[in-house]
Amino acid sequence: LKAKMVLDKQFQIAKVDERIYGSFIEHLGRAVYGGIYQPEHSEADEQGFRKDVIELVKELRVPIVRYPGGNMVSAYNWEDGVGPREDRPRRLELAWRTIETNEVGTNEFVDWAKKAGSDVMMAVNLGTRGIDAARNLIEYTNHPSGTYWSDLRRSHGYEAPHAIKTWCLGNEMDGPWQVGHKTAYEYGRLAQETAKAMKLVDPTIELVACGSSNTGMPTFPEYEATTLDIAYDHVDYISLHQYYGNRSNDTANYLAKNHDMDHFIKTVIATCDYIKAKKRSKKTINLSFDEWNVWYHSNDADQKIEPWSIAPPQLEDHYNFEDALLIGSLLITFLQHADRVKMAAMAQLVNVIAPIMTENNGRAWKQTIFYPYAHVSTYGRGISLKPILTVPKYDSKDFTDVPYVDAASVYNEEHEELTIFLVNKHLESSMPIEIDLRSFTNYQLVEHMQLVHNDLKAVNTKDHQAVSPTYNADSTLVDGVLTAQLAKTSWNVIRLR
Ligand code: AHR
Repeated sequence: LKAKMVLDKQFQIAKVDERIYGSFIEHLGRAVYGGIYQPEHSEADEQGFRKDVIELVKELRVPIVRYPGGNMVSAYNWEDGVGPREDRPRRLELAWRTIETNEVGTNEFVDWAKKAGSDVMMAVNLGTRGIDAARNLIEYTNHPSGTYWSDLRRSHGYEAPHAIKTWCLGNEMDGPWQVGHKTAYEYGRLAQETAKAMKLVDPTIELVACGSSNTGMPTFPEYEATTLDIAYDHVDYISLHQYYGNRSNDTANYLAKNHDMDHFIKTVIATCDYIKAKKRSKKTINLSFDEWNVWYHSNDADQKIEPWSIAPPQLEDHYNFEDALLIGSLLITFLQHADRVKMAAMAQLVNVIAPIMTENNGRAWKQTIFYPYAHVSTYGRGISLKPILTVPKYDSKDFTDVPYVDAASVYNEEHEELTIFLVNKHLESSMPIEIDLRSFTNYQLVEHMQLVHNDLKAVNTKDHQAVSPTYNADSTLVDGVLTAQLAKTSWNVIRLR
């Protein structure tokens, strides 16, 4: 067993759009209440936001956060969440069957995002509502002053407009579970007309149209094709969502699931470009993979939650070591498609299927998946280079010819840095690798970080970070050839300067 790789400055895929390191906060479970916001906590700031959570979000360098849903947005009245708190209504939240207190709304979230160093990706309700609520919301958030909605914002204490640039036209409108679910034709028409109105209010915005909720949807990829056929000229991105799990405890197959994501991305690119060809258009629609993660550990527990409670612990997946490996491979897949995937959102960010967890009366802590996300978000900024990789392959239940090693690399010209991200999926054996770095003369090895653990099911807890990065001191760089041992089932980050 041995892997070989060639990396060259000339083998460029594209500049990485940093928004692929985005994430997502939905009014769901303990993401907002008890997650980012908990006024009674000792770490709360003057607005009630937990400073310990903000610190961890900053460590992830999250450039953009999608809000307020998710399924929740499809029955949400944004007006409920602005203005004096004592006047805000409590509502039945239909997507997750809880009570929404509306203590946090648009303005507070914009404040939180600023504190966390992120932009906001705002979703509008195209389930129960439509053009009118969307155009009012963008007038409220983005118009300077002198109109009903912009002056209402000012009266709420926000003199300057929020200037929100990126907007989602609804959420998972193809899904029968969605409140206000629509056929592709119904959605395409509504998306087009809502987009038109929103861009009349603020022509500088960018809009994401809903694609399919996952590759298993019976309407995939026709939903994308029909929607784009109608709305092509008015939208800028199409969204993709996908979650993975290891329900059958078949790790070899589980770790290959980034190939499903790769296939999904390629199919959506083909669909976008087919409509482009059909329309003789010069415009290219790019991809926003604005929900992705592992989600399955909490499914059974969620069945037992009583409806109509406030911020119950929903979707609280407790991630293990093998989940972190798959997350590494999924991030590598985004980098391999840096030319077309321009935005992505790990779903979600705090407590709800999240890299960051909080204790109600205690600290915030890092799940296993925090680490690959932090590594790629920190070091994966620059130009994505295409690695030429020769590596043995395996077959699993759903996939054939799965390379044992996944690789991506990012060249940061400005800082003269090269980072190589690698996953070794071999369950029994380490993998020696030789990387020919021909064009990176005079580069030195800075460090080889890794995530390794003997137990694929090892988890982190509030008190113990069982899965956290270590250093591999055995890697060498001699005459432009980097030699390393990738430990069995490992995540690796090799940095050169
Ligand atoms: O992220 C959790 C949920 O998954 C979102 O609300 C929805 O869009 C998706 O089905």
